[in-house]
Amino acid sequence: MRNISLFFRSVVKSLTLLFFLAITANSVSAQSAAEGVTLFKQKCTACHALNAKVVGPALKGVTDRRSEEWLIKWIRNSQAMIASGDPEAVKIFNEYKPAVMTPFPELTEENVKSILAYIKEGDKPAPAAPGDVAAQGAGASSNGISDFALWGLVAVIVIAFLIIVVLNRVVKTLERMMLKKQGVLVEEVELVEKDRLAGLKKLAKNKKFIFFVIILVVIFMSTASWMGMWNTGVHTGYQPVQPIKFSHQLHAGINKIDCQYCHTGAYKSKNASIPSLNVCMNCHNYVTAAEKNGGQLSPEIAKIYRALDYNPDTKQYGNNQKPIEWVRIHNLPDFAYFNHSQHVNVAGVKCQKCHGPIQTMEEVYQASPLTMKWCINCHKETEVNHKGNAYYNKLIAAHDQLKKGEKVTPAVLGGLECGKCHY
Ligand code: HEC
Ligand code: HEC
Ligand code: HEC
Ligand code: HEC
Ligand code: HEC
Ligand code: HEC
Repeated sequence: MRNISLFFRSVVKSLTLLFFLAITANSVSAQSAAEGVTLFKQKCTACHALNAKVVGPALKGVTDRRSEEWLIKWIRNSQAMIASGDPEAVKIFNEYKPAVMTPFPELTEENVKSILAYIKEGDKPAPAAPGDVAAQGAGASSNGISDFALWGLVAVIVIAFLIIVVLNRVVKTLERMMLKKQGVLVEEVELVEKDRLAGLKKLAKNKKFIFFVIILVVIFMSTASWMGMWNTGVHTGYQPVQPIKFSHQLHAGINKIDCQYCHTGAYKSKNASIPSLNVCMNCHNYVTAAEKNGGQLSPEIAKIYRALDYNPDTKQYGNNQKPIEWVRIHNLPDFAYFNHSQHVNVAGVKCQKCHGPIQTMEEVYQASPLTMKWCINCHKETEVNHKGNAYYNKLIAAHDQLKKGEKVTPAVLGGLECGKCHY
């Protein structure tokens, strides 16, 4: 008799295990597809859609047309593949000439795989719905558990519990039937009912069980709030719609305009600053993108003219000017001091290190979390660029003086510089 319940118990065990595995696997693939959506939106939608030809071909089914290896190589650097004479690459390049695809060397193999997972899956109910921001934010605090894993775990616990309850009943019924067959007297149904109530009551009094439930609830709630707290105020992936469709990919990437041309401040002051429309007019008083827009002035460039009250026919500016209200993307709280020139000019950090591959962004998004942890980690890793730097030269000189037992004054440390005491 016991054999049967033992058998069922082992079935319950293996089923639970199976469910657990299935759900984890599922959540992993869902998660990578979710990362894929974000990347696809950021990097590919400028030229591709799943089901329609845009600048490049429709991508639906491309994972069937080509091998994964080919796709990874192509997406990371299509130009190199064409140059190397890969027949498939050359063929598609000739088909779409003169349009070319931007290389994405910054995408890791994993990134590309997740994009491919998304292309394969298509626009399903979109697990990324809670916000690309949240998905990336969780990735950013790399040791945080993702929402998916968490919900997967909860689902597993609930399902396993249900299975155990159901199978337990089945086992009981079967055992009772066998007892009946053997002529053993079985208690009446009411008795069983009463028994069950008593069982529940007993369970409610069972300290171990109560303790277990409380621990579960506490773990769940604290994990949820811990993750919630870490992601408050973290806006990785934030990508607001700007009043003019200004593309960094086109200007800084394809046309190779130096960042400095527009963000002069980044090299010499605290703020990088957004250029005024007059900077745009250096080119856009004659660049009208008419060819792209059927011979008409581009509606996006018309917005610049309107804001400046500029008449392209007479080339005159009117008096009714109003600035374009760009939506600010990167924003530290007021209590944190960050200086661009110190990082860009003194330390020689590249803009992309903090802002991501701006020159490939059709629309700018926040690539780094901008959390204190992020600042601190970089400060721990990056070596200062002390060569030919007056500040460090003074420091080294002061250090030598100290070693020799000479006195070191604030003046030696630069305490006579006007800027140390005056704003
Ligand atoms: C600047 C526009 C542009 C961007 C951005 C772009 N592509 Fe392309 N893509 C193209 C063009 C154009 C082609 C056609 C081949 C060529 O001319 O280079 C192409 C071809 C492809 C192909 C080959 C399709 C086939 O049928 O074999 C794949 C795959 C692809 N792109 C994936 C991507 C992915 C993934 C991204 C985002 C990470 C991306 N592309 C971003 C323009 C772009
Ligand atoms: C032709 C002018 C121009 C060039 C060149 C240019 N930018 Fe910009 N940039 C802008 C404008 C206009 C905005 C505001 C609109 C927007 O966010 O797209 C901006 C916004 C940004 C932002 C987001 C600012 C915020 O609100 O937080 C960053 C970061 C940035 N640029 C970095 C760069 C980097 C890095 C380069 C060089 C690779 C570069 N830009 C080249 C004009 C330019
Ligand atoms: C150094 C020259 C230069 C500067 C400065 C410049 N642009 Fe451009 N811009 C271009 C070129 C070149 C094109 C591509 C035109 C084409 O495709 O025919 C372009 C295209 C555009 C387009 C796309 C038009 C369309 O319909 O496709 C917009 C919008 C735009 N620029 C906005 C701006 C804004 C806003 C600024 C100032 C922050 C700016 N540009 C500064 C050279 C410049
Ligand atoms: C060490 C990291 C780092 C580097 C390097 C860096 N930035 Fe920034 N950038 C930031 C942070 C942090 C902010 C937000 C500043 C704030 O809110 O006070 C920011 C903000 C900006 C803004 C928004 C306007 C502003 O001034 O606050 C622009 C535009 C910008 N950066 C452009 C650039 C350009 C162009 C470069 C390269 C020349 C660059 N950044 C290099 C970290 C960096
Ligand atoms: C890409 C790496 C990197 C990141 C990210 C970064 N920093 Fe720095 N930071 C540096 C380096 C390198 C220096 C040293 C520059 C020098 O030699 O003066 C520095 C110096 C500084 C200094 C001056 C320290 C001193 O002793 O005078 C301040 C303040 C600062 N960073 C603030 C920040 C803040 C705030 C953030 C985050 C918003 C941040 N940094 C993010 C690399 C980074
Ligand atoms: C150690 C700090 C320190 C340094 C370094 C320093 N100053 Fe001053 N400075 C002061 C203080 C404090 C005052 C205000 C004194 C007062 O009001 O009597 C002042 C006042 C002044 C004033 C007078 C302002 C007024 O309204 O009367 C000028 C001008 C001035 N400083 C210029 C400079 C210049 C230029 C340098 C660099 C060569 C410099 N200071 C370096 C601390 C400093």
